[in-house]
Amino acid sequence: ETLIKKIDENNIDSEIIEEMAKLLRDGKTVIFPTETVYGLGANALDEEAAKKIYEAKGRPSDNPLIVHIAEKKEIYSLVESVNEKAEKLINEFWPGPLTVILPKKDIIPDVTSGGLETVAVRMPSNKIANALIKAAGIPIAAPSANISGRPSPTRAEHVKKEMTGRVSGIIMGGDCCFGLESTVVDLTGETPMILRPGSITKEMMEEIVGNVDMDSSLLKKEDNIKAKAPGMKYTHYSPKADVFIIRGEKESIIRKINELYEEKSDENQKIGVICMSDIARKIKTDEIIDLGDTYEKVAANLFDSLIQMDEKGADIVYAEAFSTEGVGQAIMNRLMKSAGYKVIEAE
Ligand code: TXA
Ligand code: MG
Repeated sequence: ETLIKKIDENNIDSEIIEEMAKLLRDGKTVIFPTETVYGLGANALDEEAAKKIYEAKGRPSDNPLIVHIAEKKEIYSLVESVNEKAEKLINEFWPGPLTVILPKKDIIPDVTSGGLETVAVRMPSNKIANALIKAAGIPIAAPSANISGRPSPTRAEHVKKEMTGRVSGIIMGGDCCFGLESTVVDLTGETPMILRPGSITKEMMEEIVGNVDMDSSLLKKEDNIKAKAPGMKYTHYSPKADVFIIRGEKESIIRKINELYEEKSDENQKIGVICMSDIARKIKTDEIIDLGDTYEKVAANLFDSLIQMDEKGADIVYAEAFSTEGVGQAIMNRLMKSAGYKVIEAE
């Protein structure tokens, strides 16, 4: 039985918050909105509670969880120490879509840290998330609220559809404004290292703490893309449709997609396209989703567009490739995974 309630972020109903917070205190799971994606939360300090998260998602239990807090100072009870760079980044970007990794204290159980000696901590800016964590009075472990392998949910309807019956509570709280998961930065070494790009970019962090590195595997996979590499099916952010990224100049992308659409041999195959507004009008296809005219909008709409393509019954989705500047880094990281790194060059 899942308790499902709507909350307006601008007029928060504290009775519902308390009801959901009680579920969390009782060791149960609650899905709640954040500014990035919906999270599937449980008491981060309670092993049995944290285990329920993995069960609900069907997630491998060696993948560590992010611990969410409601106030900056709570981090001191979770990690061994907060070094100077961590302090600066937290002061600049919290509350917000930045997750920091630091050596953990013993109160963090292995289930939450995936057996690691470090823990990931983040303070969300979404007001519902903040009110819920505060009311619960405990740190909340929360991965994205999707079944493992599927696109992360950024709309209330996504979680209601996919997770009803799998968790104790769902707070339906509108759309997630950033739409991509938080930037994860490892602060255990001399130089901060980005493990997952997000809306807080490398450049934004470098302004605060100087040099920031990016996990080389994130970049390498990008560099090593093989056109249509068969069998490279990564189960990450995957819709039911087969996703291909079309890369090139805008005009070439339009031409290539229209060509691919003309060439499709099987009339029963439904083709979908996701792209920015400037080329959306010029594309011939069965289903099209306009992601918007800025990278911020593309980020906010990306996962929803993949989920919508499933609902429209698309068999193949062609996605425009984006630049990897700024937030484009995070967009392409997610898009590449959802496409299993399949890229078609448009000349
Ligand atoms: O925006 C977000 O971060 C969302 C919302 C709900 O807050 N949460 C989220 O959680 O994306 P999840 O579990 O889907 O992703 C957590 C990421 C994973 O890639 C995990 O491997 C990494 O953070 N991570 C967590 N703890 C870590 C640690 N101690 N060391 C290295 N990576 C860690
Ligand atoms: Mg996830």
